[in-house]
Amino acid sequence: MDLAKELGVELGVECIQAASTRFPDGECYTRIDCDKLDDDVIIVQNTYPDGNLVEMFLLQDAARRLGAKSITLVIPYFGYARQDKVFKPGEPESAKVMCRHLDMNCDRVITIDIHKEIILDNFRCPHKDLKAAPVIAEYFKGKNIDLVLSPDIGAAGRAQIVGETMGLPYDHLEKTRFSGTEVRISPATVDCKGKRVLIVDDMISTGGTIIAASQALKDAGAAGVSVACTHGLFVNNALERFAGSTLDTILCCNTLNNAVSHISVAGLVAGAIRDAQAGKW
Ligand code: R5P
Repeated sequence: MDLAKELGVELGVECIQAASTRFPDGECYTRIDCDKLDDDVIIVQNTYPDGNLVEMFLLQDAARRLGAKSITLVIPYFGYARQDKVFKPGEPESAKVMCRHLDMNCDRVITIDIHKEIILDNFRCPHKDLKAAPVIAEYFKGKNIDLVLSPDIGAAGRAQIVGETMGLPYDHLEKTRFSGTEVRISPATVDCKGKRVLIVDDMISTGGTIIAASQALKDAGAAGVSVACTHGLFVNNALERFAGSTLDTILCCNTLNNAVSHISVAGLVAGAIRDAQAGKW
């Protein structure tokens, strides 16, 4: 079940699948098939790939025209978050641009493991970034894991939450990124000999990080390597590259739909919405 439908079940509210097609010239057409929406409306939509952004803007307007009293945007995977600042002169601040445009027609925003939480400060309305790490930890409890690792220091906090929740040791590997597709993981210095390791990360894009990390762990004598991430982008058929690998398991959350998005964050999102309705944020 996709996240929006599951969220509807969790909250006990109707889930309407908006019609989404393309005009012959490629422009987006969308429609919410109902007479009125005089209620609090939740729109669940990623800002990735680009077409979803346009659809989101149109849905926000359609919902408001149908009488929505409030609009909560649930953006499970917030695209464009990695260009969160101007790295070189002449570049845009893409993440801010997206926020400013989405902000024109919403009352609350929920994201999950956004690349950098500070991006959400570009919204003037209440906003919250939810952490999938505890959900991932619960999913892997009792599944024969001995050690939790992140592939780099940037995700060390995530490994810590998963490790502590599972009652397991945790650590991180050392990663050097050379380009969007090239990474190197230094030989593992953490003791993983004979251990079944769970690697946790925020996203898998090309899969380069996970392939290098699992190889480093195997070289260091790990007995098994499983992988869990929040957002499984798997660009350029990256998921297929894992098919012949020695990974025990590869799983991600249902922030993006794919063949391995079996860890549901619906309960997490529903909890945040209930808290908002109770005036807690
Ligand atoms: C890096 O900051 C992220 O946490 C991920 O490790 C990274 O985006 C994964 O990308 P890829 O799968 O292309 O190595």
